[in-house]
Amino acid sequence: MDIAIVGAGYVGLVTGVCLAEIGHHVICVDNNEEKIRLLRKGISPIYEPGLEELMKELGRKKRLLFSASISQATKKSQVIFIAVGTPSKKNGDADLTYVENVAREIAENMDGYKLIVEKSTVPAETGKRIQRTIMMNLPKKYRNGKHAVTFDVASNPEFLREGSAIQDFMKPDRVVIGVESKRAEELLKEIYKPLKAKIVVTNINSAEIIKHASNSFLAMKISFANALSRICDHVGADVLKVVEGMGYDKRIGRAFLNAGVGYGGSCFPKDVDAFIRLSEKSGYDFNLLKEVRVINEEQKKIFLRLIEDKLWILKGKTIGVLGLAFKSDTDDMRCAPSIDIINGFVSEGAEVKAYDPQAMENAEMIFKKNVVFCKDPYDLAKGCDCLLILTEWEEFKTLDFKRLGKVMRQNIIFDGRNMFSEKDFEKIGFEYFGIGRGKV
Ligand code: NAD
Ligand code: UGA
Repeated sequence: MDIAIVGAGYVGLVTGVCLAEIGHHVICVDNNEEKIRLLRKGISPIYEPGLEELMKELGRKKRLLFSASISQATKKSQVIFIAVGTPSKKNGDADLTYVENVAREIAENMDGYKLIVEKSTVPAETGKRIQRTIMMNLPKKYRNGKHAVTFDVASNPEFLREGSAIQDFMKPDRVVIGVESKRAEELLKEIYKPLKAKIVVTNINSAEIIKHASNSFLAMKISFANALSRICDHVGADVLKVVEGMGYDKRIGRAFLNAGVGYGGSCFPKDVDAFIRLSEKSGYDFNLLKEVRVINEEQKKIFLRLIEDKLWILKGKTIGVLGLAFKSDTDDMRCAPSIDIINGFVSEGAEVKAYDPQAMENAEMIFKKNVVFCKDPYDLAKGCDCLLILTEWEEFKTLDFKRLGKVMRQNIIFDGRNMFSEKDFEKIGFEYFGIGRGKV
């Protein structure tokens, strides 16, 4: 099928590449011309494992094209996915400006039947608004009469995670399609047929809610684990064992119960906010979700307080940060917990050194000269009063901490991701603190 994806970011680009991989002809459109220039050269503007290789291969097979023109892509495609950003406004609402702009531009260029699919995460009832925007902006000659064009709007929320995006897209737990017509349902089923996935068919509003509810539920699990970690620290219990013991119960499940420095990223924080706002507008005060957000914000402060307690005076101390990205296997720094934590140290007058395998370029734009970026963990450790693990990169598992300890001023490690345990460090003379490991 001929498909256009508007917005070639973390979701749009992965969706485009994967739809091309399963046999479709895809044009990825972005209004950032620099992005399009890179993509045409076979360079991925984001770090996502396996993405660049697959993108190059599909480019060679001519199944994947890149363009800065919505007009050209609309004319060439029967199905158009909207995958632009939906960031938070100051009041927590989802800002749908980009979605509206794209819907308008698609409408202005429609010359026959099109299925317009929301891939971006949007609040319930956005589908209706897209439908109306398209109606109002169709060229006059196509609005009615013998040249009238028909179209459908559908919702097809995306559940991929950064860092495992290709795998998540290709082997989804489910594909959700929100449709209001048989034609739209058939087209979407046809597109996803090669995945042989479970398909949940519903109306557009329900599909939109499924996405917000899923992200909010996952955020709630994480906040539950973070709240547990606080109790564990005080009563001498180990949160890792507690969630293991809980997780074997299939009704609970072990996934997304890792206590840490709080969830970050471009989605959980903004989607929880947007869902709280949608609930408010519907007349329901979603206090449970508000508490999820409070626990998440506190989690970073508690981590800072723990470090301050152990280091005593922060002014003049050197803090070595291992990992900056909001999770491993990505270069994404959006709402990364490292931002608030590092800013906390900087405001106390500590010197911060940092290393991340992929996110340093993005991090430099955030921290500017407030952080010294190091070429590797060994360079980072020199003169440090402690090490902090803020992202669970696989490469940290095999670090030679004994060697790092030799060049540090004080051998203390604060493991914000519970990658290790105390016994890994006692032999090499480090003080170790994790999250909720029964020791404050
Ligand atoms: P992103 O910022 O990485 O990408 C959005 C892209 O849209 C950018 O490249 C931007 O230049 C482009 N864009 C904006 N306006 C445009 C226009 N008028 N014409 C063409 N291109 C335009 O965002 P993202 O992380 O890919 O997220 C996109 C949506 O998908 C959001 O709603 C997000 O909540 C949702 N989502 C994201 C993820 C994820 O893991 N990042 C997963 C599931 C869903
Ligand atoms: C999340 C969802 O998992 C995806 O299903 C969804 O499609 C996506 O948001 C989205 O809508 O954008 P993502 O943000 O890429 O995916 O990454 P996650 O693996 O969910 O991690 C989010 C944050 O939670 C990270 O900061 C991670 O470190 C943290 N986390 C995750 C925990 O602190 N504990 C856990 O147990 C799991």
